[in-house]
Amino acid sequence: MQKFKSFKLSLNKKIPLDKFLEKALYEPEIGYYNKKNPFGKDGDFVTSPTISNLFSEILAIWIISFWEKFEKPKIFNIVELGPGDGSLTKILVQTFKKFPELNKSVKIFLYEKSNLLKNIQKKKIKNKKVKWIKNFHSIKKGPVIFFGNEFFDALPIKQFIVNKKKFLEKHYVVNKKGLMETYHKASPTDISVLKTFDVLKNQSFIEYPKLGFIELNKIVKKITSLSGGVLLIDYGYLKPFNGNTLQTVMKNKKVNIKNLYDYVGKADISYLVNFNLLKEFFKKKNLKVKNIVTQKFFLETMGIMERARIVEKKMNDQQKKDMYLRLKRLLHRDSMGELFKVILAYNYKKNNFLGFD
Ligand SMILES: C[S@@+](CC[C@H](N)C(=O)[O-])C[C@H]1O[C@@H](n2cnc3c(N)ncnc32)[C@H](O)[C@@H]1O
Repeated sequence: MQKFKSFKLSLNKKIPLDKFLEKALYEPEIGYYNKKNPFGKDGDFVTSPTISNLFSEILAIWIISFWEKFEKPKIFNIVELGPGDGSLTKILVQTFKKFPELNKSVKIFLYEKSNLLKNIQKKKIKNKKVKWIKNFHSIKKGPVIFFGNEFFDALPIKQFIVNKKKFLEKHYVVNKKGLMETYHKASPTDISVLKTFDVLKNQSFIEYPKLGFIELNKIVKKITSLSGGVLLIDYGYLKPFNGNTLQTVMKNKKVNIKNLYDYVGKADISYLVNFNLLKEFFKKKNLKVKNIVTQKFFLETMGIMERARIVEKKMNDQQKKDMYLRLKRLLHRDSMGELFKVILAYNYKKNNFLGFD
């Protein structure tokens, strides 16, 4: 066994890309999400809940509207997937207090893999209503809404080259020269699953979120048995994209991906979500799916500008300027407004959920 940089890989033993990313991002004490707090101005990237509280307030309002559509059940479960530094749920808890009937019914669960982030969340959200869970077994009664901002793009993916109907999977291997990228025959199980997706037909390069789908399978099971939905917001695309979307971000800048190993534990590695693949996945599982919308459409339809005009009344000029600059970042089409998309899959008799067309 050779100790290569920050985590161990046996010499000449190949490891698939997703297993490599899993170690790079989540290995205890070494993986990126277990080593440092990546969020905020001293971190590596900012996400919508850390840009503006208005984002989280709008999510709170959306969740309340979802609860109303379910005819205000007495037990209503909400699960934040990958809560990061806890900014979003902190605002949810504050907002829900203004809605006593909902607040009495709601059970809040946080699903977080990183122990370091879990501790940060626990310090930020000191509220007895909020419970941290490792699986969804304790959610037994009442509808459930799962939601995640930039959750899915943080789950490791597999990559394949398809050439003359042959599927080759990307691996890494450590040899005397260092870390090398190699391609090997894909497993028959993966090939047969890939072939079932219309969205992946005719692609010569495929990104497949196998671990992401394992997570979603657990979520779909709960939604199917209890009713409810899953709302995912992520950086992703709708038009077919036939290439590598892995990106490495450090200090708010993209860094060269060629030397991935140099960035293990130091940079975030994510990918762009193929939203039509997600949609096809949910439909295969017999969930209904709303038309995918942009973050701009979702937030504006939910009234973020109206909310801003109420909030600004208590602000001085500098605070107002700052708030609108942050809103611009969330909504502008060249920043997050159109790059980020929102998908809702659900199991319920009604279809008219707010925020979608
Ligand atoms: C890119 S961060 C997004 C954080 C936060 N939602 C935000 O918008 O600021 C991804 C989050 O998902 C968590 N995560 C990744 N894989 C996970 C898994 N399999 N189970 C639970 N949490 C996971 C990470 O630790 C982190 O909190």
